Amino acid sequence: MSKAKVIVSGGMGYIGSHTVVELAQHGYESIIIDNLSNSDESVLNGIEKIIGQKCEFQKLDLSNRTATLDTFSKFDNIAGIIHFAAHKAVGESVQKPLKYYRNNLNSLFNILEAAKENQIENFIFSSSCTVYGNVKSLPVRETTPISKTFSPYGATKQISEQVISDYQHSVPDFKAISLRYFNPIGAHPTAEIGELPLGKPENLMPYITQTAAGLRDSLSVFGNDYDTEDGTAIRDYIHVVDLANAHVLALKRLLENKNKDRHEFFNLGSGNGYSVLQVIESFERSTGMKLNYSIAERRPGDIPAIYADNQLSKKELNWNPKFTLDDMTSSAWKWEKKIRGITH
Ligand code: UFG
Repeated sequence: MSKAKVIVSGGMGYIGSHTVVELAQHGYESIIIDNLSNSDESVLNGIEKIIGQKCEFQKLDLSNRTATLDTFSKFDNIAGIIHFAAHKAVGESVQKPLKYYRNNLNSLFNILEAAKENQIENFIFSSSCTVYGNVKSLPVRETTPISKTFSPYGATKQISEQVISDYQHSVPDFKAISLRYFNPIGAHPTAEIGELPLGKPENLMPYITQTAAGLRDSLSVFGNDYDTEDGTAIRDYIHVVDLANAHVLALKRLLENKNKDRHEFFNLGSGNGYSVLQVIESFERSTGMKLNYSIAERRPGDIPAIYADNQLSKKELNWNPKFTLDDMTSSAWKWEKKIRGITH
């Protein structure tokens, strides 16, 4: 029997590349489409090294409707789409809102249209816990009401979920799952793929590893006066390999028609909240490195704490995240060392 083929948009990116690996290891064949706007063609080598086989890649900008429809018309027998491709820098989205709305929404419109033209019925969407906005009670459940989000990036995720719901009503056989990620960190245990932030990282983990690698002088801990145990902000960090695995399970659910609704939503978090200082401690413990850091002002727009209730994903997707915080921080360091050529 030939393998089920899956289109992975943004498959050269951080979460996309790990998902392509998980798909291969579960017997699926990926066709990666990516415009390489925030990734590098070398990622393909890393993927192929891990999976031990070639992987198809097509350079395509999904915001170009004609090119998207044209590319999709050449594919056949596609079992499903996993749609990652989007801009994702929260801070940049505040500076350049139109760039975010234009790219993230047009890409979604075009890929949905291409799905319809080619009778592709199964769709997994890369969403974010940012859709919940400023949450009033923790942990966050899928039933927690959506409230105003803090950034144009977050708004594109909210709107995209709505677009998928509306679209699904108009196409009888179409079904979708939106996966709401908490804070993915870490890298593949082989250190063949990992996060490749452009320029100065906005996110905590790559900032930590770049500081330890000597690319940055010191990490600023944004605020130690929050109403949390040690005063620093709390997030739900999840290993990128566990996160990638959930995509395979979500796809399988749709392919086997096990979904209970035509558009379902699942939280992907470990269910544990860790403070910034706890992440730093984990990094120091798991790597034996000493991190240079100091306390700074709160970062505008940050919330004090957010973490997931992941019971629904565990029950319905059979998802069982297995990596610890120390696995996350040590694998992120292993990857940073590899790309910087650090051998000690
Ligand atoms: N932090 C620091 N110093 C840094 C960077 C981050 O102290 O240099 C702190 C932040 O203040 C925050 C925590 O580390 O308390 C995590 O920050 P990240 O930037 O890594 O992640 P966020 O929780 O801000 O953002 C993440 C994703 C977004 C998503 C958002 C949803 O990166 O894509 O979660 O809440 F929208």
